[in-house]
Amino acid sequence: MSENISLDESLEVFNTQLEQACDLVSQQYQSMQERPAYQMFELKEVASWFAEDLPEQGMEFSELLKFTDEKVLQTATNNMGPHMYGYVMAGGTQVSSIAELLSSTVNQNMGKWHLGAAMNEIEQRVIQWGADFIGYRREIDGAVEQIGGTLVSGGSAANLTGLTVARNIFFEKYKVREKGLFGQKPFVVYGSTETHGCVDKSIELLGIGTDNYRKIKCNADYTINLDALKIQIEKDKQAGLQPFCIVGNAGTVNTGALDDLDALADIAQVHGLWFHVDGAYGGLVACLDSHKHFYKGMDRADSVAVDFHKWLYQPFEAGCCLVKNWELLKKTYYKRVSYLAMDVKDDGRLDLNDHHFQLSRNTKAFKVWMSFKAYGAQAFRDMIQKDIDLTKYLARKVDNASDFVLFNEPQLSAVCFQFVGDGTYSKRELNELNQKIIHALEEDGRVFIPGSQLLGQTVIRACLINHRKQKKHVDYLVDVIREVAETL
Ligand SMILES: Cc1ncc(COP(=O)(O)O)c(C=O)c1O
Repeated sequence: MSENISLDESLEVFNTQLEQACDLVSQQYQSMQERPAYQMFELKEVASWFAEDLPEQGMEFSELLKFTDEKVLQTATNNMGPHMYGYVMAGGTQVSSIAELLSSTVNQNMGKWHLGAAMNEIEQRVIQWGADFIGYRREIDGAVEQIGGTLVSGGSAANLTGLTVARNIFFEKYKVREKGLFGQKPFVVYGSTETHGCVDKSIELLGIGTDNYRKIKCNADYTINLDALKIQIEKDKQAGLQPFCIVGNAGTVNTGALDDLDALADIAQVHGLWFHVDGAYGGLVACLDSHKHFYKGMDRADSVAVDFHKWLYQPFEAGCCLVKNWELLKKTYYKRVSYLAMDVKDDGRLDLNDHHFQLSRNTKAFKVWMSFKAYGAQAFRDMIQKDIDLTKYLARKVDNASDFVLFNEPQLSAVCFQFVGDGTYSKRELNELNQKIIHALEEDGRVFIPGSQLLGQTVIRACLINHRKQKKHVDYLVDVIREVAETL
């Protein structure tokens, strides 16, 4: 047996490596404002950089860093920088980068309390802070009680978690955890045509099946049509099905539309349904006094998905599902197994694996905790408000320009529009032109701005959630789009 071997270098060598790595981190900050948002490489070229057999021998670390810098960091899509408008992409914070390094170094496992006592307490604290930030509360006899929740990879996992809790709690009486869905009348879930695709995926994974998912039509402002929802629930009841859950949108991915959550909570209450809110994109905006009223009713939801790697500017990954209490999660996930249960001390510790699907799990809460501590909640409110103000500025700019048409009046930070040139194009031609513009913008790379489909039309969609964005970047965006469009 080989003795005294490990993968570690001496502390002296390690310190040098850390310094080299920190230089690279610092370089990202130095260059992010100037670097293009996207660099177009041929797929084959990128694949060729990494096409090698499993290396049997290690390489010199500074060489490895050099290669990593050239091929990974310098070619990276500039998500940190101010010219990213794609999907729902935030830029990260300096403090969370540091937090990630620290937490991966101490390598705590969030599965059991004693595998990382402080980190476990931090996760519970972050869940409560997340709930406090958006006003998601539970009151019993006038006293505010602790909220339950779980940190997950992102919005998709947060929605899957909410719907899993919904299914397991709602159908507890049928022993759904033991018997599965066999022999049950189909459970029906309601969302809108604008609800995110991860809800479809969740419904598939949960064995409910998308045939039992009703996508209710939207109003002109892309919010769910409440009358159509009520009619559909009645229809399903009359057909002998089991209406079970309404998914409300606290910010749709396409346009940031906010469903009437209070009205949805009423409908859920009348029919005795679970009410889940997908707030992955927009849920955290409930922290703003200027927007709180749009979120009325969210606190009545049985479960809420939020996403700290979206509008809390955290690096990937950091989603969160909030529910009204920890017991709901325990009833959904708890499984007694001897190798985990023998050492449990009954001193009130909460083992997170009893409340979540995963056993071993990294901390996603630590960077959120450090960020809240370092910047303070008010700084995040200010940044979120800034993003919304910038989006409104962009919408006005587009709306006032004769060569653009605005498709939605943004309540949050997603705005969709078309380039229409001199206004002589047909609808079909505009779809084709804007599709071409989206491709040309990717190739150009100065800004990153993909498209979407709204009302059957191809639109350019900008989403502004980056604390580094300023007004001059928005002006630049419009100039670049116009310039690229005019070359076509
Ligand atoms: C409304 C909404 N729900 C869910 C998701 C999925 O979140 P994630 O990409 O973190 O899985 C998104 C992503 O943009 C979203 O906007």
